[in-house]
Amino acid sequence: MFWNIIHESAYSFLMNGRSVKHHMDMFKKIQSHRSPRPKVDLSHGHSIAYSHSVTTRLMDVLDANGRGNVHGGVIMRMVDEAAAIVAIKHAHTGVVTARIERFDFLAPAYIGNVVSVHCALDYVGRTSMEVGVEVTAEDLFTGEVRHIASSQVIYVALDEHGKPTPVPPLVPADAEEAARIEKARARREHMKKIEEELAKLQNE
Ligand SMILES: CC(C)(COP(=O)(O)OP(=O)(O)OC[C@H]1O[C@@H](n2cnc3c(N)ncnc32)[C@H](O)[C@@H]1OP(=O)(O)O)[C@@H](O)C(=O)NCCC(=O)NCCS
Repeated sequence: MFWNIIHESAYSFLMNGRSVKHHMDMFKKIQSHRSPRPKVDLSHGHSIAYSHSVTTRLMDVLDANGRGNVHGGVIMRMVDEAAAIVAIKHAHTGVVTARIERFDFLAPAYIGNVVSVHCALDYVGRTSMEVGVEVTAEDLFTGEVRHIASSQVIYVALDEHGKPTPVPPLVPADAEEAARIEKARARREHMKKIEEELAKLQNE
């Protein structure tokens, strides 16, 4: 009964012509703020440090799962949002999530913890960008910081027509950045081979 009421309210809200028009107008307004887009200088690359970011949020009861810990989906959303910021900053244009290459939950986060999402580019292709992510949870009372998740997310930069568009190169600022990029390049080549083998097996 309760769900029927919710469902009917949502349905009538969506079917109300004025509400739909209002929302379409809102999306057009948001898009108009972003166009025309500035021309991206592809000859000028950026380092990993240029777009590196840390996003932090206090976990509250609305973030809980049935066990009373932080819901995995909350962490995944934080990761996708934080990593996208890195890709957008590097590309100077909008991006879409093309793939979650890995997502490892290593330990639970608890309500009251401060969750921090540390993101930095690993690798940049022609139009795609891989962002490496480490997630920590801090207990503010004890100061204990735990590594709770790791991820690698691939974004593709889009032009104003929604088509993949080239991004500036990733130029290492120092030996540490160069080593990170080389490691990611080798890992991507390895993954590509594994995928080709899997595709072959599936077609057998
Ligand atoms: C991602 C997307 C734009 C790719 O479009 P496409 O026409 O296949 O693009 P292309 O074949 O020209 O490939 C463009 C780049 O994306 C990469 N790519 C495409 N699909 C990919 C995937 N599933 N995983 C990893 N990389 C991918 C390609 O390797 C290429 O990289 P490069 O230019 O650095 O060499 C398209 O598949 C799409 O729009 N997907 C939906 C995205 C979405 O809705 N995400 C969720 C909400 S944000």
